[in-house]
Amino acid sequence: MSPLLDIRGVSVRFGGLAAVSDLALALGQGEIHALIGPNGAGKSTVINCISGFQPLSAGEMRLGDERLGQLTPVTAARKGIARTFQTPQLFGRLSVADNVRVASRSGRTGLFDGGELIELVGLAGLQARAAESLAYGQQRLLEVARALACAPRLLLLDEPAAGLAADDIARLARLLRRIAGELGLGILLVEHNVGLVKRLCDQATVMHHGLVIASGSPAAVLSDPAVVTAYLGAQASPSQARPC
Ligand SMILES: Nc1ncnc2c1ncn2[C@@H]1O[C@H](COP(=O)(O)OP(=O)(O)OP(=O)(O)O)[C@@H](O)[C@H]1O
Ligand SMILES: [Mg+2]
Repeated sequence: MSPLLDIRGVSVRFGGLAAVSDLALALGQGEIHALIGPNGAGKSTVINCISGFQPLSAGEMRLGDERLGQLTPVTAARKGIARTFQTPQLFGRLSVADNVRVASRSGRTGLFDGGELIELVGLAGLQARAAESLAYGQQRLLEVARALACAPRLLLLDEPAAGLAADDIARLARLLRRIAGELGLGILLVEHNVGLVKRLCDQATVMHHGLVIASGSPAAVLSDPAVVTAYLGAQASPSQARPC
């Protein structure tokens, strides 16, 4: 069976900078796949490519049996690809409930009812609050709820746990495991929290300066000498990067 997402030979150049070089990555249905690496490694650029925000310089991507070609954000969303952003991109003046409602009106049937999603991500009681009034970590959780309201096949999360307290991280991890397991979503998770990656993810790909330097199980890649060296070069070992 084809993987849900199959990326081959993908490169992105910004002028003279190779932000992503010859990336290969496969992600199965129901799999949670971590994309990790030091700052500037190219992780967000990969998410931007898959979600149609960044054209590829080379390579191809397939979603199931379909070749994706050059995507736009709209065509990516129509194919069932939803994402969150490293810096939350919400409708600041709209309420929490309306931010989710807008997404679930985009033509696909929601996975859960909007109110249920808000509760599942841990924002119960905040439905009427303006998104811009939420704490930064809560804005990230609202982005996760909004992405899920699109009923995606593939969910791309760019550092969703940054700025969250431990109990919010644990709730988010349970939710991601549930939607991957019960609904068969594939999840690509960019995350610096090594404890979360080890607990939650089935596979991991590590990037450094745009190149994949390791891929495999989280435990194996995080003890790979090339990965340890890459993080030490960035002044922290993976286990010290952001403890859970
Ligand atoms: N639109 C752009 N124009 C020019 N350079 C860019 C652009 N977007 C990213 N870059 C550069 O590409 C490289 C990869 O950036 P990217 O944001 O993908 O890294 P990252 O792994 O997500 O890092 P971080 O962990 O800090 O979020 C960096 O050197 C960055 O400065
Ligand atoms: Mg990034």
